[in-house]
Amino acid sequence: MSKKGIANGLTNYGDRDFSLYLRRSFARSMGISAPMLAGPIVGIAATESGFNNCHRNMPELVEAVSRGVLAAGGLPRVFPTISLGEVFLNPTSMMFRNLMAMDTEEMIRAQPMDAVVLIGGCDKTVPAQLMGALSANIPAVQLVTGPMSTGRHKGERLGACTDCRRFWGKYRGGEIDADEIETIEGNLAVTSGTCAVMGTASTMACIGETLGIALPGTAAIPAVHSARLLAAEASGRAAMALTAKPITPRQVITEKSVANALRVLLAVGGSTNAVIHLTAIAGRAGVKIPYALINRISDETPVLVDLKPVGEGYMEDFFAAGGVGAVLRELKSLLHLDTIDVEGRTLGERLEDKGEWVDRKVIREFADPVSKVGGLIALSGNLAPQGAIFKRAAATESLFEHEGRAVVFENLEDLASRIDDPALDVAADDILVLKNAGPKAAAMPEAGYLPIPRKLARQGVKDMVRISDARMSGTAFGTVVLHVAPESAIGGPLAAVRNGDRIRLSVAKKSIELLVSAEEIQKRLAEHVRPDAPSRGYGALYHRSVTQAPDGCDFDFLR
Ligand code: FES
Repeated sequence: MSKKGIANGLTNYGDRDFSLYLRRSFARSMGISAPMLAGPIVGIAATESGFNNCHRNMPELVEAVSRGVLAAGGLPRVFPTISLGEVFLNPTSMMFRNLMAMDTEEMIRAQPMDAVVLIGGCDKTVPAQLMGALSANIPAVQLVTGPMSTGRHKGERLGACTDCRRFWGKYRGGEIDADEIETIEGNLAVTSGTCAVMGTASTMACIGETLGIALPGTAAIPAVHSARLLAAEASGRAAMALTAKPITPRQVITEKSVANALRVLLAVGGSTNAVIHLTAIAGRAGVKIPYALINRISDETPVLVDLKPVGEGYMEDFFAAGGVGAVLRELKSLLHLDTIDVEGRTLGERLEDKGEWVDRKVIREFADPVSKVGGLIALSGNLAPQGAIFKRAAATESLFEHEGRAVVFENLEDLASRIDDPALDVAADDILVLKNAGPKAAAMPEAGYLPIPRKLARQGVKDMVRISDARMSGTAFGTVVLHVAPESAIGGPLAAVRNGDRIRLSVAKKSIELLVSAEEIQKRLAEHVRPDAPSRGYGALYHRSVTQAPDGCDFDFLR
């Protein structure tokens, strides 16, 4: 790709010279000098929003990236795209990931830039930016906003959002009162940045660094740490280097680097959501991630990182312990070392140096893992013919082999209205089933972590087997079967489950079975009525085009 700067992708007026003259003239109106306009341009995709707390530090990151570009002799141009703040979006941020990916792709392609720095952080933003960058395929560097630092409550550290759920569970169970939960509310999210644990945002940051699209060592730097600003400045310089010697996202994100990223996802005990996002990102590069591959890699990759929600620590500990580099060094024998990053360095070259001191309480040695097998597996069986995802690292081992009676909720409204009904017929060894929360039905909200019915929570029940076609927050934990495909709304077998049916989960066999005859399941599905679809706007486009979880929920026309 040649460096064209301001002459990239001219506006069509039927006269190229006129277009360039007009563009220069209008650029001059922004006070940019002619010599600056003659050089390379680095776009900076900025995602600040009053509805996105995780991107609160965007202005200082943008300034630092710009400084890096200017110092290297280029012209930084900041441009906005939509921003997705996880907890501020209705019905769920997942519905808008593909919209942000389209926005990012089209604005990279439409505007004159030789390279781009993408600044994201909150759960859906990094996948959206990487999907867009892969499709636009001009040189790109990912920079994350970085994780939050922890707050304090009664001598204990608090971090969004594993502790949000832990204390909410205590409140529902009557262990703490309304005053205390209000105090905790004010101490869960106390700095800028993304959730403080190994949730989806942190997992995606680790994936970005492993893929090589983000600079080495940058995934885990806390949002408020000065090193985050240095990383931003370095990202600007790296983007400028790419204008001279282009390396495109599709050269960086390949079958091999995706396999490495999958391994890191499993080794850090990462989020179930990241499976969907990595699948969607890889899909833009023409790379498939079959569930069989996830299981193979999971069975040979230990969990090495002891962070919540799987273990004990927070992202600030992971950063201090050695971050992604330390994990990569432990996994070295299992990685493809000939992948390249945005600086043109192979992973093998990156891992040549021995690295710094590693805190082994947080990042364990390969021979002394948190768990000998990876954090996630795919399940299959007659309840999920196209598969389901299960986070074994965050589940209760005594429920790994479990058969129980189904207690069915037909949709999200039904769940909300009945889960705490004292008359609900439910016992601790039942299996909670939620239907109609898949990609097409409900844009796959993080509702798969069904609350323990209040009357059971009050008896001290902490976990139950739960099954749905929904997702679960990366910060959540429990024996939760997610992403059941095909989803119930399009007639997947989940639609056939009725109250009182028996269901069997076997983690050893990686299976999820509805213990009802095939004939009876078919008979029930023949009577299934699909829910109404939205008829206008983005909702209609989404419903028509979104793919199922095993295809990453990307739009069928974008892959
Ligand atoms: Fe943004 Fe958790 S809410 S990362």
